[in-house]
Amino acid sequence: MSKVIVVIGAQWGDEGKGKIVDLLAERFDLVARYQGGHNAGHSVKVGDRSYALHLIPSGIIHEGKTCVLGNGMVIDPIAFFAEADRLSAQGLQVTPERVKVSSRAHLILPYHRALDHTSEERLGNEKVGTTLRGIGPAYEDKAGRRGIRVADALDADHLRTRIERNIEDANLIIRRYRGTTLDAGQVFNEIAPLVERMSAFVTDTTAFVNRAVREGRSVLVEGAQATLLDVDHGTYPFVTSSSTTAGGVCAGLGLAPKKISGVLGIVRTYSTRVGEGPFPTEMLEGEEEIGQLIRERGHEYGVSTGRPRRCGWFDAFATRYAAEINGFDTVALTKLDILDALDEIKVCTGYRLKGQPCESFPAVSHELRGVEPVYETLPGWNSSTEGVTELESLPARARDYVEFISEQIGVPVGLVSTGPERSQTILVRDSALARWLAD
Ligand code: IMO
Ligand code: MG
Repeated sequence: MSKVIVVIGAQWGDEGKGKIVDLLAERFDLVARYQGGHNAGHSVKVGDRSYALHLIPSGIIHEGKTCVLGNGMVIDPIAFFAEADRLSAQGLQVTPERVKVSSRAHLILPYHRALDHTSEERLGNEKVGTTLRGIGPAYEDKAGRRGIRVADALDADHLRTRIERNIEDANLIIRRYRGTTLDAGQVFNEIAPLVERMSAFVTDTTAFVNRAVREGRSVLVEGAQATLLDVDHGTYPFVTSSSTTAGGVCAGLGLAPKKISGVLGIVRTYSTRVGEGPFPTEMLEGEEEIGQLIRERGHEYGVSTGRPRRCGWFDAFATRYAAEINGFDTVALTKLDILDALDEIKVCTGYRLKGQPCESFPAVSHELRGVEPVYETLPGWNSSTEGVTELESLPARARDYVEFISEQIGVPVGLVSTGPERSQTILVRDSALARWLAD
């Protein structure tokens, strides 16, 4: 039986998916992404080398692994080659043999980026705080049936006509709000050679992935963004525009649900969020110092945009919701060592809205803004867990914290990360994760 394991962020992103995917990739043949684009920022540290990945799956770091950019993704050809060239300069092999770009994926073009800017400017105080990479506008075009797919772009005449038509529409908005316009000819001249260069990478990835599965090869599916940024299940409208959750995998790769063998949730031991939107456990009045301490210890600045991330306590209520939607078989708890310096650690176990306990995760953003988190306070361990590789070697209070999180979210822990390096990892014996790695 082929093994297809999905890795999903349980919170608002930046849970440490890059490190975990990198750790697991060794045991898989393919590493595939199924949604999003270069809004992701996955960082991987190997020895004294650091890699920042945005569009290309983290599997690229492992020689001999095939990386798939699935049909559910939106791909900016400029960003694709900027990243490919950067990774090549770092000594990685970013070749058409190793990297397969879906013919059905949609392109992000310069007017999408311009529209992302315009849309954020128009929203003013209500802005989403997007990465300004054109992600939302590209998905809008996809749903609006105006999008340009990779395969369609390979026909230069078709590409030119579609760019002309789409820019005519985009310019109506861009001119009105920015007083400038984009030139279709210029955009075509910039993009056409890149698409030509991309053609060697273009593959029917649906057929490719399904054949791999049929032939018994294993697939690691790398989610980008996270559950609470999902366009359906996240804190709408402060979300990204794709289906980030496990359900999105089937649509974004053309893989049947019964082919998926397991789902791993990546859960950071505290919360962060970049961009705007409700964040019930954010460290605000009176807790800014703790927030700042965590931000510095955890290097909580965006890999993609450099923005400081908002920091907050672990939210078990929201993570329980994520566990349910994705069906996590097990979770990897990350960045435990960042909490080493705290005397006390709060965990949100539920929300109250207008004095009443919330039965389920609120659907409406303004309700989420109004909830009052119910906290349980646990004692900190005040000693270093950095680099610990055995559960038994953790301070008792750190172990209690790990256990408390697991009980609260109702999912067994398969791994605890105690530092950015591959080696700074506790793999829990007899966990589902250990079994997946052994198979
Ligand atoms: P990784 O994969 C954290 C956030 C943006 C914004 C919202 C919409 O590194 O975890 P978009 O540009 O996608 O339209 O922005 O989503 N966002 C992320 N936040 N980690 C990410 O990726 C993110 N990708 C998008 O900050 O709030
Ligand atoms: Mg990131």
